Amino acid sequence: MSILEKTSLIDIPTIETSRLLLKPIDTKFITESYLQWMNDMEVCKFLETSIPYSEVELQNFVNQMIAKKVLFWVITLKHDGSHIGNIKIDPVNKKNLIGEYGILMGDRNNWGKGFAREASRSVISYCFDTLNLRKITLGVIKDNIAAVKLYESLGFEVEGVYRMHGKYDGKYCDAIRMALFNMKNPDVQNYLDNKS
Ligand SMILES: CC(C)(COP(=O)(O)OP(=O)(O)OC[C@H]1O[C@@H](n2cnc3c(N)ncnc32)[C@H](O)[C@@H]1OP(=O)(O)O)[C@@H](O)C(=O)NCCC(=O)NCCS
Repeated sequence: MSILEKTSLIDIPTIETSRLLLKPIDTKFITESYLQWMNDMEVCKFLETSIPYSEVELQNFVNQMIAKKVLFWVITLKHDGSHIGNIKIDPVNKKNLIGEYGILMGDRNNWGKGFAREASRSVISYCFDTLNLRKITLGVIKDNIAAVKLYESLGFEVEGVYRMHGKYDGKYCDAIRMALFNMKNPDVQNYLDNKS
């Protein structure tokens, strides 16, 4: 049985990887640099948020994550504690054991160093091994090549395409739905065995 079925709210753990500490979101992470990421067109061009993004919007967002105990972590570098991005699993469908993943690496100086993959792998392990989720899903704009490649490298597969779903970076784009199954989950194993 998943702990999700036993408790209504989960205590969000700090997760440690070789180079990162993923910490539950806290108001102390509302900083000038976090606000700058949310106003950086290069970071946000494939996201739903709009620029300009105000400090009040950021405060409201963070307060909501905390109040609702959303599985939302800030990604910090172990060696100097700097906050370089965020990762979340939300919403979580407790009945069907599915979680929706999202990631934002706001600090562009730290792109391309494998931090998103490292953080993602650890959160995926937590979701599958501790929460016993069956499946993790995500949505991504097809033109967001870095994100699509990252998800493919984590094992996510395309489940569907919404064509011409929205305007991003100045043009209409397709949106892809991707998913990753928990191969240790017996229901997933049964499903895959019966398909082959
Ligand atoms: C997409 C994003 C999360 C990648 O973060 P990152 O820390 O730079 O990614 P990593 O360094 O961990 O890269 C892991 C893999 O992703 C892929 N990747 C990352 N950046 C890439 C790029 N610019 N071009 C192609 N592939 C890329 C590669 O497969 C890479 O593995 P490799 O280096 O072995 O080839 C980051 O660019 C970001 O946050 N962008 C803005 C917000 C966003 O678009 N979030 C996703 C919304 S769906």
